[in-house]
Amino acid sequence: MAKIDRITVDKILDATNIVDVVSDFVSLKKRGSSYLGLCPFHNERTPSFSVSPSRGIFKCFSCGKAGTAVSFLMDLENMNYTEALKWLARKYNIEVKERELTSEEKEADAARERMFAANEFALRHFEETLANTEDGRAIGLAYFRERGISDAMIKRFHLGYALDRPDDLYKKAIAAGFTEKHLTETGLAIKTDRGTMYDRFKGRVIYPVHSLSGRVVAFGGRTLRKEKTVAKYVNSPESLIYSKSRELYGMYQARTAIAKKKDCILVEGYMDVISMHQAGVENVVASSGTSLTEGQIRMIKRFADSVTLIYDSDAAGIKASLRGINMLIAAGLSLRVVLLPEGDDPDSFAQNHSSGEVEAYLEEHRQDLIGFKVEVLMKDAGNDPRARTEAINDILQTIAIIPDVVEQSLYLDECARKVGVDAATLSAQLKRFVAKNAEAAYNKRQADKARESISDITEHGTGAAPEMPPVEPPADMAEAQAVTAAVASPDSQTQVSHAVYLAEEEVIKYVLRRGLLYMCDVYRGEGDEEPVPMTVVSYVEAEFANDDICFSYPPFAEIWKQALWLRDSVWPAEWAERERELLEQRATALALGREDIRNRGVDMDTIEKLENALTERLDKEFNEGVDNFASSFVRKHLLRSDDRSLTDLVAKLTSDNVVLSRMYPRVDPRADACRKLPLAVNTLKSVLLKEKLQKLTAELDKPHSNEEAMALMLEYRKLKDISMEFDKYTGEIVIMP
Ligand code: UTP
Ligand code: MN
Repeated sequence: MAKIDRITVDKILDATNIVDVVSDFVSLKKRGSSYLGLCPFHNERTPSFSVSPSRGIFKCFSCGKAGTAVSFLMDLENMNYTEALKWLARKYNIEVKERELTSEEKEADAARERMFAANEFALRHFEETLANTEDGRAIGLAYFRERGISDAMIKRFHLGYALDRPDDLYKKAIAAGFTEKHLTETGLAIKTDRGTMYDRFKGRVIYPVHSLSGRVVAFGGRTLRKEKTVAKYVNSPESLIYSKSRELYGMYQARTAIAKKKDCILVEGYMDVISMHQAGVENVVASSGTSLTEGQIRMIKRFADSVTLIYDSDAAGIKASLRGINMLIAAGLSLRVVLLPEGDDPDSFAQNHSSGEVEAYLEEHRQDLIGFKVEVLMKDAGNDPRARTEAINDILQTIAIIPDVVEQSLYLDECARKVGVDAATLSAQLKRFVAKNAEAAYNKRQADKARESISDITEHGTGAAPEMPPVEPPADMAEAQAVTAAVASPDSQTQVSHAVYLAEEEVIKYVLRRGLLYMCDVYRGEGDEEPVPMTVVSYVEAEFANDDICFSYPPFAEIWKQALWLRDSVWPAEWAERERELLEQRATALALGREDIRNRGVDMDTIEKLENALTERLDKEFNEGVDNFASSFVRKHLLRSDDRSLTDLVAKLTSDNVVLSRMYPRVDPRADACRKLPLAVNTLKSVLLKEKLQKLTAELDKPHSNEEAMALMLEYRKLKDISMEFDKYTGEIVIMP
């Protein structure tokens, strides 16, 4: 896959509206100036995923994930940077011109794209074989017909057939220009020890697996032979583009119906999904015979509020699968169960009934999970007291997982009624289970948080966060100083303490949020007549220069470097352009407004008053326009970088005043910067001083000659005095805003 040139990238990003993009995957509601929805990156019941259209960023206030439209696509849909841009280009109808690649770039970037292409080629080949070869029609097509599958479904699910020959697909793919590598990476072909190549799928009907966005990520091939010695299904292996635990068969075809009905029907096999579709029930996906993963549940939750499980009346199967569904309940999905008539599975049931009948049966026999579980388990336990106790505990454990307490108590009552045990007794036991779950969840959260607070500091230093052991998160600054996280970058062994990191973060936030906003005029030293106008960036620059300090956390240092570069090299031209626009806007508005006032024909006094009010308003608008442009300048440019870790860090740092509430205070950006930035800079200086003092103290503990000790002591006193001054100063600012 080729690189996209910068002009096109800018065009794409200009057209991109993050609310549009996120809405393709998450349902969002407007809340103030931003949008709110359920976070697709973790399980949650109350929305804390916020999207800011004006800034073009998203941030989850619960799991802390943040980024741009591009990073959203990259993470959620597992795309790389270029794929995400192309996706956006397609969405906004922007033509993408690509340049030729160097051979290394080809090697690195092309792999995934070629794998998709290889799968796409295979899909077409299998479809073609099914429709147009003698064997395909006589064996494959005949099989689907025999199972009652219509041509429309064959087309919709892109069903196919692989000829029973050693390397039919392989030869055709090579002839079409695919390499051995891509065919083995996707698992379409397998290389023997002797180096010969053969097809994975031979003499089987083919079910392609599509990702949520409709790309072919894998295939399942079903044998048509009856022998027990032949594996019933052969599936594509896990690869760069396929992770079994992330996909659900049929999701691509079902997503619209699921979103519409807010319910997702879960079945086991390929054929179940297809037959249900054919019977007009389209909100169906298959877990492909394994229990659901967190990722799959999250995918379901993006579209549905409830899950309907369809069981055939085989009791052993039911009991086994009942164990796997707690995760669905914990995710806040309500669970319903439909039991099929004896001897039917979803496929046969759908095949033997008209579409109206299938729908009606599902409606009629839908049961809530708890009630169903009570029935199945209690029937199974019979009159044996020990088995009954076990069954009741099993049921209570499921009830304990339901996140909604009202729902929980309703189910408890129902359960008590059905098993004939006093509700108060059950309630006591339920409380025990709830408490146990809460404790487990708390422990897990603490461990996660500790891991995150470490990786937050480390992950931006290099591409991938190194494995870190869980560490208790620092409770406050004093403790935080004790936690020293190594910033793992391959060439430098920079150590940044947590306290320094936090203090630097405060300052860099201002750089990103207020950027080139004019703060105030300053006099540089005594006898200086001309005051110098100072922006946020130049204020920090001057303060840093004064004390000869810089950002020590590498990602902040990088942001800072780029901010200075943007100010010096990009700002002048862009500002000139923007200023011209703003002045033009003002002039036009003024002319129109004046004409309007004159046309109203009031007396001269009123005209003058109205005109004054008009210019005042336009001046205000102009100034706000200037301030906005200047404030967002650094942030806007950095968010367009192709460096993922940079854009996500910037999004994270600039999003915490996107408030979740409908009400948020209107802050005057200039007053805010003037008041709080000096405080942030001083806090940083004070933290750095304290660290220096600590080092000195450690140094003093070592044996020294008298002179050395004397010098160290003097240095120590000097720093100590300054440090105390600082504490006084920063303290004052905090108290008197
Ligand atoms: P089933 O054995 O129920 O198959 O496995 P099925 O899909 O209903 O097939 P038919 O009706 O006999 O044609 C359910 C699912 O488990 C996975 C497949 O995804 C299958 O659809 N499976 C099963 C495998 O991956 N490998 C196997 O060997 C068997
Ligand atoms: Mn089946």
